[in-house]
Amino acid sequence: MERLDKLLCSQGTLTRSEAGRLIRSGRVTVDGVPCRDPAKKWDPTGVTVAVDGKALGYAQYRYVMLNKPAGILCVSRDPKAPTVVDLLPPALQRRGLFPAGRLDKDTHGLVLITDDGAFAHALLSPRHHVPKTYRAVLDKPLDEEKIAAFCAGPTLEDGTQCQPAELRVLQDGATPTVEVVIYEGRYHQIKRMFAAVGCHVTWLKRYAMGSLWLDADLPEGACRELTEAEKISILNENGCGKLSDI
Ligand code: URA
Repeated sequence: MERLDKLLCSQGTLTRSEAGRLIRSGRVTVDGVPCRDPAKKWDPTGVTVAVDGKALGYAQYRYVMLNKPAGILCVSRDPKAPTVVDLLPPALQRRGLFPAGRLDKDTHGLVLITDDGAFAHALLSPRHHVPKTYRAVLDKPLDEEKIAAFCAGPTLEDGTQCQPAELRVLQDGATPTVEVVIYEGRYHQIKRMFAAVGCHVTWLKRYAMGSLWLDADLPEGACRELTEAEKISILNENGCGKLSDI
């Protein structure tokens, strides 16, 4: 059971006092009946709360897939530059959203934005070895030796020993395009792994985290909530949720 004002705040970006004013004005209904008492408690999963007749669609947590363009910071808030959370439309905004895992400013692709801290922790924990799939364009040709060194897990410039990874050449040539899968998430990991084998990454895009693939129909800069099936699959595979938690 949750106070109506708290429930309203948890689903969007209203402050508690803004929610209180909205409720007292009579614009908030519970199962179709105006409730003007912000302190009245309701079971959010058992009633329909609506504002101006529009149902809230209660969800304990929000999980949003974003196709990040280059040039956007992968943090919640920044006083000077646009962030991945800023790209979400008002209907998907809510307090406490953050990107589960970072991409560099110049990296494109899949970013998962959520307010479920336990889920993000499980997804990112080095203990879980969740695979992350990227495509990269390199500045010079690859050979068998470089590929073998990359896949064995190279030693980075600062001495860090990487875990084994996978590499598939999608397009060979002077500036090859490759698909790589890594099982850890260090700072600039892919760029530094390629640097360790003598290549520079000129373009990088993340396509998947675990079983969750970037929706091919999502243009750069666009986002959508995960489907129920995607939520179930990614929560269960990371051992951090059950059907009933969603
Ligand atoms: N590895 C990198 O080098 N950069 C990213 O943004 C993600 C993985």
